[in-house]
Amino acid sequence: MNTQELIDTAKKMVAGGKGLLAMDESNPTCNKRFAKLGIPQTEEARRAYRELIVTTPGLGDSISGAILYDETIRQRKKDGTPFINVIADAGIIPGIKVDTGAKDLAGHPGEKITEGLDGLRERLSEYFQMGARFAKWRAVIALGEGNPSRGCIEANAQALARYAALCQEAGLVPVVEPEVLMEGQHTLERCCQVTEEALRTVFSQLHGQGVMLEGMILKPNIALPGLTCPQQESADAVVDATVHCLLRSVPAAVPGIAFLSGGQPAELASERLNAMNVRFKSRMPWELAFSSARAIQQPALEIWRGKDSNVVAAQQALNHRARCSRAARRGEYDAAMERTPATIAQVAKPAA
Ligand code: 13P
Repeated sequence: MNTQELIDTAKKMVAGGKGLLAMDESNPTCNKRFAKLGIPQTEEARRAYRELIVTTPGLGDSISGAILYDETIRQRKKDGTPFINVIADAGIIPGIKVDTGAKDLAGHPGEKITEGLDGLRERLSEYFQMGARFAKWRAVIALGEGNPSRGCIEANAQALARYAALCQEAGLVPVVEPEVLMEGQHTLERCCQVTEEALRTVFSQLHGQGVMLEGMILKPNIALPGLTCPQQESADAVVDATVHCLLRSVPAAVPGIAFLSGGQPAELASERLNAMNVRFKSRMPWELAFSSARAIQQPALEIWRGKDSNVVAAQQALNHRARCSRAARRGEYDAAMERTPATIAQVAKPAA
């Protein structure tokens, strides 16, 4: 393990007011999103979509690192250039999702355990050779009647810690993602309790596995009331709760916290991240960044719909959401940004 390189990479991932773009949807997840929009669920369609993303002009102004999927890291532009070279040439650090998905946790109805530890050392070594410099592993924690169980939180935290230790051994910065899901009727307070318990357990396990905190990034959820909770909350309430929870559970040695978007509407995700940075940026020990998939990609995907004629408009929409995320991360986002000429692409009608 080259300690200094890991520390430098982790710092770069959250430097310059930028954040991470997650474009690591597994084939089933990507296909599901394509199916909703009538896009063919083929390897070529996934390749074309990822080419649209990585060739978006100016993406590197807002995005410090891009998380790829195993299929994507091996793909190329139509002209033969490997995606990983296109990304690196744009000044974006290539990353890779290395978990193999969340499966049912035996003995715990309604709960999941993320798999992928078998053979991970060898896979990490291959990804490093290919040029990846960081990795991602997502654990999911669902709230429900009596859930999450302690067994689910512990099993996922231990898997995250073993993954993180293997990453650092291989020279890759681990992005540690324990995601408390938004689905459910739970209150903001309940989400905070669970998020805090999950994070405390994760950091205890990271310590147990000897993970160097300065060489990792935490990717948590923002604390939110459940999607069907009758009492939704203001951006300020959400931000207060999130910061409170993080201060109690995340060591100051961690260089950055990059929030997942978790299916929040794109504009709301920007509004909340902005409120957090406006109010707390100068008082937090960590950078407060983003690591989003849907909040950056969704409008672009809806414009593209698998048509070459929509590529430019889709790239403009992608770049716009990346710029809004960057502004939010700097505390400079304003709803008026959604009405500037740069957003024309977002409202442009995609070709039928
Ligand atoms: P969302 O921003 O769409 O939640 O995706 C982030 C991610 O990488 C999930 O693992």
